[in-house]
Amino acid sequence: MDNYRLTEPRYEAMKYRRCGRSGLLLPEISLGFWHNFGEAADPEKCRFIVEAAFDNGITCFDLANNYGPPYGSAEEMFGRIYKASLETHRDEIIVTTKAGHDMWPGPYGEWGSRKNLMASLDQSLRRMRLDYVDIFYSHRPDPVTPLEETMQALVDIVRQGKALYVGISKYPPEMAVRAYQYLREAHVPCLVYQGRYNMLERGHEERILPQAAAAGVGYVAFSPLAQGLLTDRYLNGIPEDSRMRHSKFLNESVLTPELLAQLKAWNEQAQAEGYTLAQYALRWILRRPEVASVIIGASSVEQLKANLKAVSAR
Ligand SMILES: NC(=O)c1ccc[n+]([C@@H]2O[C@H](COP(=O)([O-])OP(=O)(O)OC[C@H]3O[C@@H](n4cnc5c(N)ncnc54)[C@H](OP(=O)(O)O)[C@@H]3O)[C@@H](O)[C@H]2O)c1
Repeated sequence: MDNYRLTEPRYEAMKYRRCGRSGLLLPEISLGFWHNFGEAADPEKCRFIVEAAFDNGITCFDLANNYGPPYGSAEEMFGRIYKASLETHRDEIIVTTKAGHDMWPGPYGEWGSRKNLMASLDQSLRRMRLDYVDIFYSHRPDPVTPLEETMQALVDIVRQGKALYVGISKYPPEMAVRAYQYLREAHVPCLVYQGRYNMLERGHEERILPQAAAAGVGYVAFSPLAQGLLTDRYLNGIPEDSRMRHSKFLNESVLTPELLAQLKAWNEQAQAEGYTLAQYALRWILRRPEVASVIIGASSVEQLKANLKAVSAR
């Protein structure tokens, strides 16, 4: 890979928000590696997306142990891009990873045991070629492992210097509150709750968002474009190169005539206000002060740059 010369100044294009009651500022838009960075992806295209993101002030890169496919390959892709382009900028970026979903075979490869979290983070650090991550998440609630065990593993990971901050993802409200309390009492306060929130999925408005705000925990929204539904991608059919055609996580059956009519109506509303549907959908989430960042996915530099205008237009 060519040596990467980062353009200056990159930070003027982005706005940054404080993550809860912490010292950490996050970019209003973060870049996620769930899709588009697996083994089948073109490494050069991936590098261009990451470089374009950083050049435009996106300082936060969101990963997890099992992003790919196959599991682990998105972290490996990040590691290669990091070595080629970002290593000299380590102190300017926030790298996150997670453990909890299925990752390796056998009884220790998923969920919230101390065994899984500790081993998984060590693997992630090797794949990403990092000494530490900035934020380490418990990726999902574990109905069996005592919450105290999972939280104490997070505390110890911070004490070991392998993560600077910790967060939780997709925890139900009661469990999230207990997690916030445990971590606060252990003097490793929960930095962030990561959850699904967008114009089509508003379930977190009632309890999760206010609870996080009350606890001083920042909220980071994933799948802000509902995996592409809240863009112009599906307004006139299902493109062959789209996620709906290629990923098991976005099924064609969701695109009902009712949903399509709703998307078209929102698209018209967006255009009347001078935005694309994607920009409109991102701005809709960022209207909430509890939200520290939205984590977008992008399959091209063009998508990324178009989405960034949601911030610059504000
Ligand atoms: N904590 C968790 O459990 C969890 C779960 C899910 C996601 N996440 C995080 O959130 C990140 C984002 O999730 P996501 O990928 O579902 O986010 P998203 O932003 O809702 O969807 C991204 C997809 O939308 C399409 N898209 C984006 N911008 C577009 C544009 N301007 N025009 C047309 N299409 C556009 C692209 O799909 P095409 O491929 O069709 O081009 C892109 O891959 C993940 O990478 C991950 O880091 C976390």
